[in-house]
Amino acid sequence: MKTFKTVVIAGATGTLGYPITEAFLNDGSYKIKIFRKKPESKNEKSELLASKGAEIVYVDYTQKGDLVKALKGTDVVISALSPKKMGGDFYSTQLSLLEAAKEVGVKRFIPSEFGGEYGPDIAHPFIEVKIKFREVLEKSGLEYTNIFNGFFFDCLQYLGFDLKNKTVQFYADPNSKVQVTSLEDVGKYTVESLKLPEARNATIRVAGSTVTFNEILQMFEEATGSKWKVIEDREIRHRYRNKIEPIPSIIDDFKVFICENGALSKLDNDKFSFTPRSLVEYINTMVKNS
Ligand SMILES: NC(=O)c1ccc[n+]([C@@H]2O[C@H](COP(=O)([O-])OP(=O)(O)OC[C@H]3O[C@@H](n4cnc5c(N)ncnc54)[C@H](OP(=O)(O)O)[C@@H]3O)[C@@H](O)[C@H]2O)c1
Repeated sequence: MKTFKTVVIAGATGTLGYPITEAFLNDGSYKIKIFRKKPESKNEKSELLASKGAEIVYVDYTQKGDLVKALKGTDVVISALSPKKMGGDFYSTQLSLLEAAKEVGVKRFIPSEFGGEYGPDIAHPFIEVKIKFREVLEKSGLEYTNIFNGFFFDCLQYLGFDLKNKTVQFYADPNSKVQVTSLEDVGKYTVESLKLPEARNATIRVAGSTVTFNEILQMFEEATGSKWKVIEDREIRHRYRNKIEPIPSIIDDFKVFICENGALSKLDNDKFSFTPRSLVEYINTMVKNS
């Protein structure tokens, strides 16, 4: 196994990047640098990460020379950039990072995957850029690890579970299985993947819980002690594709896509040293604190 000392995290101030960076800082075995896009800007999360020991480095992702300079001495690059926020820049930014990483001899690259198990045959316009980049990375000669963790616990509202109004919108068959993982555990899995021989040039699939949408609803109903109103609309993708009124938004089309394709083919949890947080515990705490 190669040994890694310096880890760069791009997008460390984001929803995912922050807990990944925290997990590395908690582990304490690595020198952590976070890349932030130029120009310098005030950011509470980056200040917190800096106070815990991370070095903030401002880069111009469009300037290869800038990236090469900033990446010198780096062993691992982790991208937590977002296709949703960055649009077309997501692919080109990850590609610039990869090219600069190759030039300076970075040992491993972890791309911004961290979701479902999508491939060229299972794609949506929002994530095609992820698949395209993964293909380039896997052929690049640079060591890689793809991490698939299903949905983040924090995305339950996005997936239709509305705690405030006690309603659920099912975007897929309520009996279909999906994987869900806490952001804290995604961070811990990412850290531990660096010590796992099986993670070298491989895809790692992990989850806090494997559940059906109906089981998630049951957890909410038990935690709130009340029956929730169910909205089920199985026609969203059909209406979206054929522009049938009321035409759903591309966001709703995406929600159907991720809910219909939310199951991972297998899990690698047993290769890791810790037991992840379960969804039922998360929901009980969420309801108690609401
Ligand atoms: N599995 C799930 O349920 C789930 C849910 C949400 C997201 N995800 C995935 O997690 C990954 C990260 O998403 P996220 O929601 O955490 O991202 P995010 O919160 O939008 O954060 C991305 C970070 O990237 C940087 N950034 C933003 N715009 C940029 C630009 N134009 N150029 C360069 N950097 C830019 C920003 O950091 P600075 O300003 O500090 O540079 C930002 O904090 C993605 O792959 C996403 O698909 C998965």
